[in-house]
Amino acid sequence: MRALLNMRALSYLFLFLLLDPVLVVLSVNPSLNDDVLGLIVFKADIQDPKGKLASWNEDDENSCGWFGVKCSPRSNRVIELNLDGLSLSGRIGRGLLQLQSLRKLSLARNNLTGSIGPNIARFENLRVVDLSENNLSGELPDDLFRQCGSLRAISLAKNKFTGKIPSSLSSCSALAAINLSFNQFSGSLPSGIWTLSGLRSLDLSDNLLEGRIEKGIEGMKNLRTINLAKNQFSGKVPDGFGSCLLLRSIDLSENSLSGSLPEDMKDLTLCNYLSVSGNAFSGEFPAWIGEMKSLETLDISLNRFSGQVPSSIGNLQSLKTMNFSGNGFSGNLPESMINCTSLVSLDVSQNSMSGDLPSWIFKSDLQKVLVSQNNLRGGGSLKNPLYSLEEVAVQSLQVLDLSSNAFTGEITSDIAVLSSLKLLNLSKNTLSGPIPAAVGGAVSLKELRLGKNSLVGKIPTSIGNCSSLSTLVLSQNSLSGSIPAAIAKLTNLQVVDFSFNNLTGILPKQLANLPNLHTFNLSHNNLEGELPAGPFFNIISPSSLTGNPLLCGAVVKKSCPSVLPKPIVLNPNTSGDYAPGSLPPHLGHKRIILSISALIAIGAAAVIVIGVIAITVLNLRVRSAASQAPAALTFSAGEEFSHSPTTDANSGKLVMFSGEPDFSTGAHALLNKDCELGRGGFGAVYRTVLRDGHSVAIKKLTVSSLVKSQDDFEIEVKKLGKIRHQNLVALEGYYWTPSLQLLIYEYVSGGSLYKHLHDGSGGNFLSWNERFNVILGTAKALAHLHHLNIIHYNIKSTNVLIDSYGEAKVGDFGLARLLPMLDRYVLSSKIQSALGYMAPEFACRTVKITEKCDVYGFGVLILEVVTGKRPVEYMEDDVVVLCDMVRGALEEGKVEECIDGRLQGKFPAEEAIPVMKLGLICTSQVPSNRPDMGEVVNILELIRCPSEGQEELG
Ligand SMILES: *[C@@H]1O[C@H](CO)[C@@H](O)[C@H](O)[C@H]1NC(C)=O
Ligand SMILES: *[C@@H]1O[C@H](CO)[C@@H](O)[C@H](O)[C@H]1NC(C)=O
Ligand SMILES: *[C@@H]1O[C@H](CO)[C@@H](O)[C@H](O)[C@H]1NC(C)=O
Ligand SMILES: *[C@@H]1O[C@H](CO)[C@@H](O)[C@H](O)[C@H]1NC(C)=O
Ligand SMILES: *[C@@H]1O[C@H](CO)[C@@H](O)[C@H](O)[C@H]1NC(C)=O
Repeated sequence: MRALLNMRALSYLFLFLLLDPVLVVLSVNPSLNDDVLGLIVFKADIQDPKGKLASWNEDDENSCGWFGVKCSPRSNRVIELNLDGLSLSGRIGRGLLQLQSLRKLSLARNNLTGSIGPNIARFENLRVVDLSENNLSGELPDDLFRQCGSLRAISLAKNKFTGKIPSSLSSCSALAAINLSFNQFSGSLPSGIWTLSGLRSLDLSDNLLEGRIEKGIEGMKNLRTINLAKNQFSGKVPDGFGSCLLLRSIDLSENSLSGSLPEDMKDLTLCNYLSVSGNAFSGEFPAWIGEMKSLETLDISLNRFSGQVPSSIGNLQSLKTMNFSGNGFSGNLPESMINCTSLVSLDVSQNSMSGDLPSWIFKSDLQKVLVSQNNLRGGGSLKNPLYSLEEVAVQSLQVLDLSSNAFTGEITSDIAVLSSLKLLNLSKNTLSGPIPAAVGGAVSLKELRLGKNSLVGKIPTSIGNCSSLSTLVLSQNSLSGSIPAAIAKLTNLQVVDFSFNNLTGILPKQLANLPNLHTFNLSHNNLEGELPAGPFFNIISPSSLTGNPLLCGAVVKKSCPSVLPKPIVLNPNTSGDYAPGSLPPHLGHKRIILSISALIAIGAAAVIVIGVIAITVLNLRVRSAASQAPAALTFSAGEEFSHSPTTDANSGKLVMFSGEPDFSTGAHALLNKDCELGRGGFGAVYRTVLRDGHSVAIKKLTVSSLVKSQDDFEIEVKKLGKIRHQNLVALEGYYWTPSLQLLIYEYVSGGSLYKHLHDGSGGNFLSWNERFNVILGTAKALAHLHHLNIIHYNIKSTNVLIDSYGEAKVGDFGLARLLPMLDRYVLSSKIQSALGYMAPEFACRTVKITEKCDVYGFGVLILEVVTGKRPVEYMEDDVVVLCDMVRGALEEGKVEECIDGRLQGKFPAEEAIPVMKLGLICTSQVPSNRPDMGEVVNILELIRCPSEGQEELG
């Protein structure tokens, strides 16, 4: 398109790069159209991400057809430039100075940066300048407006300008609108500003302006709007406002103004908006307010006004919004207010008002009534806040806040009349009696707060009809009975507080279906049984449950007696895994339903009896094998399995994956308690020495009744045997009979990490470097397993061994695969010994268990290694959960104090602290928030080189 880059363009390019473009171009090429030139120069400084200025082509004769450009039909010169909201960025260069006829410059809502000086345009001709909502900054030169006789309107609102408002602004005598709001202008107002007698609108809100508001405003007879809100003006408000008879809106809020309001304001009979909120005005509120008959909004909140609310308020028939909150008003609202027939919103909260709540409140069309934190009582003789509702149509009422007053009596059924009510707050009164069932008629309710009263009886089921409810607070009453399941229909619920009542029974399971809950406080009741399972209740904060001694479940760290023996169904017909001979005889062929605990008990008994026999047999057979009479015990080496001779059910099959099986000295050791190395969820481990002097560790599986059929067992074990990694304990072989299974492992001499961390003897003390190595090695081991799609399920410090080189070796991996089914109850009962390492999702039926449960256990392990503390420590009458403790310490900035005292002064904080943070990330409640083990390994390696690693975790 631009194949021919003409000379003119080239010369521009040159000029933009090197020289002051305007001056040079003018002197070089005086025949160019000044407007084209100026706009091209302007464009050269601007980034135009949306390409809106693509039509601006320097080859054009004039710029009148360009986007955003408007010319005078007579002179063909540019008179308006409208480039609002185009996401333009960059600086405003000097190009615009060329536009000698420009009257309106509007660049609002862009991303322009830099400061503005006399370069921006020729103010002599400009009438409208709108640079609002950009990113302009810096101070305005004091003489910026020296020649601005034509200027009608200027807006620099919502930028980042600083410094004083230029005094030259006062010379723009034609100004009608000034908007400098939302900047950081400081200092005092130039006094000349009040001489701008044509000004209609002055908005200086949200700056850092200070000092007194000087006298002089009375000259501004055209003023309609003045907004000085959110500055630091102080002192009294001078007289003079009353002379600006056209004033419609006055906003002096959020300053430090004091004294009383100037009385001449009463003459402002056109004024419909008056806010002096958030100042230090004091004294009685003036009765003359009744003369400002057009007022629609009157906000005097957060001042120090006192005395009675003047009854002249009743004259303000247009008043819609009245906010008198946060003052020192006493007495009652005047009866005359019944004549404020337009009133929509009334807020007198946080005063010292007393007496009965006037009944006219409920006869009006009010939508919002807020009277909290006063000393008001119920209306009428019944002293009931909602008395007399039935007489009136209160369809309009949407917000009713009577909290923290002295209302007594019962809530009547009239509450149902309030069908538009969205927020009802009656908390902190002394209301008694039950919550009426009619509450279900308030179908629009979003927020219902009845806490801190003396309500009794049950939570009505009808509350399930308030389908918009998102906040329900009934705490600190004497409510009893159980929590109605109907609450589960309220799918918008986010915050529920039932604490400090006398609620009983089991929580309805359906509550688990509430999708938006983020707080459910049940503390200090008498609830019992298991919590509903589900994403919310599995991670509910324990403080929401305290004071209910009969609750149980993982979150309260108390097992539920009624839940663990969950029946499981073993159905040989559907499971080809059960070769008839391999099923324990007492299970047989029939569909049998047994509880898990029964299964485990039976299984354990069988192992004890049959195990002793089988091992004796093994011993005999091995002996006979040694005497060159190969009998039923089959030896096979390598990967090939021999199936043939295993017809005798009692005969065992020994397979070593590599080399010669040589077991003769080992067999008797199995029965020797002295050789026991430890016990885990899947069985006891013994050390034995093969004939060639090679040590092995033998695990006797104690869950034989749960182990799969021989074929499946062998397939799985063979898979596990293939896994080799320097940080995994190698599985070297196995021994199988239907009733006894042994796994033969590499022997790791250094003992378990648990022993090194927690077994008192000082000789086992691990240095920081050794600990880091163990963490990294364990991480690599898990990453390797996950890469092979194997979940460990049982990561804990007793399962991490340390070899003679200090290298970590993770054991016991993959054993869950030997179970006939990966039932999470079986798993969690196997893993119960690993309390504290168990990921929260085990308690939750609806969350899938993934490899992220290992990440959780690993996170706990990290914290254990760094702090030297057990995952759960039982103190005198307290249980300390390690990750909660570290998380708390981190929040308090005291995480270094958690580090193992034995390491004091001997660890690099730049490694230890990121490692702990990593541990906390790994123990995130939500599985998806935990990193995967591959990432963990990378992070650990980065931490090792602190210069690269730190930012990642900061
Ligand atoms: C302004 O620029 C910033 C970054 O420079 C960008 O994030 C933002 O979206 C831009 N805003 C507009 C309105 O274009
Ligand atoms: C404003 O400009 C500053 C730099 O001057 C930049 O850091 C910031 O992101 C900008 N803000 C917006 C909202 O564009
Ligand atoms: C001043 O400008 C801001 C930002 O554009 C706008 O929100 C405000 O309403 C303007 N003030 C007046 C009085 O028009
Ligand atoms: C309400 O206004 C009417 C006339 O506008 C007046 O007669 C009456 O007294 C007023 N009511 C109160 C309670 O001030
Ligand atoms: C709570 O209820 C039980 C019986 O349900 C009752 O004995 C007890 O007094 C009640 N406690 C309170 C504080 O109301």
